[in-house]
Amino acid sequence: MKNTMKLKVELENGVRLLWPTPLFNKKFDETEAINKGLVRIIHEKERQDIGKKKSIIGGWHSSDDLHLWDFPEVKEILNFISTAITEITKTSAGVSDDKFSADMTYIAWANIIRNGGMHRMHSHPGSTWSGVYYVSSGIDGPVDDNNGQISFLDPRGAVEMIPTPGNPFGQPLNLPPEDGRIYCFPAWLKHMVYPYQGSQERITIGFNIRVENFNEFN
Ligand SMILES: [Fe+2]
Repeated sequence: MKNTMKLKVELENGVRLLWPTPLFNKKFDETEAINKGLVRIIHEKERQDIGKKKSIIGGWHSSDDLHLWDFPEVKEILNFISTAITEITKTSAGVSDDKFSADMTYIAWANIIRNGGMHRMHSHPGSTWSGVYYVSSGIDGPVDDNNGQISFLDPRGAVEMIPTPGNPFGQPLNLPPEDGRIYCFPAWLKHMVYPYQGSQERITIGFNIRVENFNEFN
């Protein structure tokens, strides 16, 4: 297996971008019925499962076995996650998906946060990719400031120390929650979720993928 960086980073003007970090960002279509079913399934699980601590503050984190829950809605979400993982892996590998094979193991779980709940800053050790699918953003009006937004930190240490035109270094990237959307990113990328303020619940599905035995062929 070659160990060369293949992300496209060469610009037309002779500048090369170093250390790019891929983020998969896609809103899946026609997810209303699936999300409605998932809300019902996740509520039922919350009644049976006291949950885990993890990064959540002011909310419920299910057991890490959502991928095994036997419901058609869960299978749909696993398909969405599979799309996300295929696309982000194609980008990191620099080859199309018919040119590689890999063993991928994954876990998934559900999160519910209610008014004031958040996820503290964390990463997902032991995994290759991590991500989140929004079942219900909980936000029914205009999105205000950082309400419930996921925030990714620039992983390059102390890069905010030097003033640079355009201020491209050291800035967090905040992205809004939206029903049916997936964000998927390297598991080492530190992230948090700003406190959610709203009268409804905010329901998401988190996932971790470990990629091993990666092989490329022609
Ligand atoms: Fe996370």
